[in-house]
Amino acid sequence: MDRPRIIIFDTSLRDGEQSPGCSMNVQEKLRLAQQLDRLGVDVIEAGFPIASDGDFDAVQGISASVRRPIIAALARACPGDIDRAWQAVQGAAHPRIHVFLATSDIHLKYKLRITRDQCLEQARDSVQRAKALCADVEFSPEDATRSDQDFLCQVVEAVVAAGATTVNIPDTVGYSTPEEYGRLLRILRERVAGIEKVTISTHCHNDLGLAVANSLAGVQAGARQIECTINGIGERAGNASLEEIVMAMRVRPDRYPYETGVVGEQIYPSSQMLAEITRVSVQPNKAITGRNAFAHEAGIHQDGMLKNPLTYEIMTPQSVGVPDSRLVLGKHSGRHALALRCEQLGHQFDRRELDEVYRKFVVLADRIKKVQDSHLLELIQEVCTQGKRIPPASAAIPFDRAASAVGGSHEVPLPFPGPAPDNGSTASISVTFADHHGEQEDYLWGV
Ligand code: KIV
Ligand code: ZN
Repeated sequence: MDRPRIIIFDTSLRDGEQSPGCSMNVQEKLRLAQQLDRLGVDVIEAGFPIASDGDFDAVQGISASVRRPIIAALARACPGDIDRAWQAVQGAAHPRIHVFLATSDIHLKYKLRITRDQCLEQARDSVQRAKALCADVEFSPEDATRSDQDFLCQVVEAVVAAGATTVNIPDTVGYSTPEEYGRLLRILRERVAGIEKVTISTHCHNDLGLAVANSLAGVQAGARQIECTINGIGERAGNASLEEIVMAMRVRPDRYPYETGVVGEQIYPSSQMLAEITRVSVQPNKAITGRNAFAHEAGIHQDGMLKNPLTYEIMTPQSVGVPDSRLVLGKHSGRHALALRCEQLGHQFDRRELDEVYRKFVVLADRIKKVQDSHLLELIQEVCTQGKRIPPASAAIPFDRAASAVGGSHEVPLPFPGPAPDNGSTASISVTFADHHGEQEDYLWGV
């Protein structure tokens, strides 16, 4: 059976750009939009044209040059914004106007100072105006998850009747939980007349760290578009992270049997480009794109990885465009990884020699945290004059490749041992280094 196709709506250039320190100039936005195109996203929200001339120019430029995806421009629910959004996006091969208006009582009372009736009328009029300009109109009832549900249903019904083609349900303040968010979408699907004609979309913020879980719950409740950003950037704690959503669906199709058009191998290059442009580095332990996401320091883990990466990795680094896994040589490393690194540097040892190198290595690692190749070579020279020289394999090792654009770490990256299996397949990977010890001993070496 065909899996439902989920539309990936990337808002890194709009909501993402709203996060402190992440603003981009026109050229940078164009560069990232071209990368988002290579990544295979379906919709690029290119900006908020009324906000500044720079944003207008960026949306216009992206519309002219990025022709495959839908290009969306954001507008508040008022004529000036809608007209400006259309001016910016009308040259796109597939233009969309995205209109938003808050529907929660808190926003109506304190921010907009309008009544529910005024809100309903403004939403309907705005969608009608946008529709007269553009066939593809998205409407977002801002703060939907804190809105009165009957009123929310009324507004959604009105904008669907007015011609909206996508209805987005924002968890603007990241307050919802997955069960609640899924339930809200089911309620809308049950109660709103005409809802089956439109695409329901998720837009979840990460204030409680639930943005990805809420988005996935939304899809399970019938949403077919997810709004998300690269590296999860966005207002406050950010938006749902594109890479986490896509890979959750790819690694767990048993739970999330949905397809996207995202090219997995372009995930990491996109993450790196964004980090480079904004100079906001990715947190090291960030799922999928953090520099530690495929790094292993614990000896037991390194030993398992060297025997078969499936022991400690649920997806291959290559499947998301990370060139290789890295074994970090630190105080938790075992003899197995140390022996491999020594061999890659051109030194092969027998068991007794390696024990000696290992003892010194642990003392050093305790002091300096990460042992670099230069340290290791000094230590090898100190300890053994006897070690068998073999041609170094290190020339082919891409040092710091995985770490470079996300903060310049100095961990020692070792190559993934052997050809990578496809995206979570169960193919085993052979390890080609000297066999120093028996199987059980290997495990103990890991400690
Ligand atoms: O979080 C939000 O509600 C938004 C809307 C403009 C869609 O970003
Ligand atoms: Zn948002």
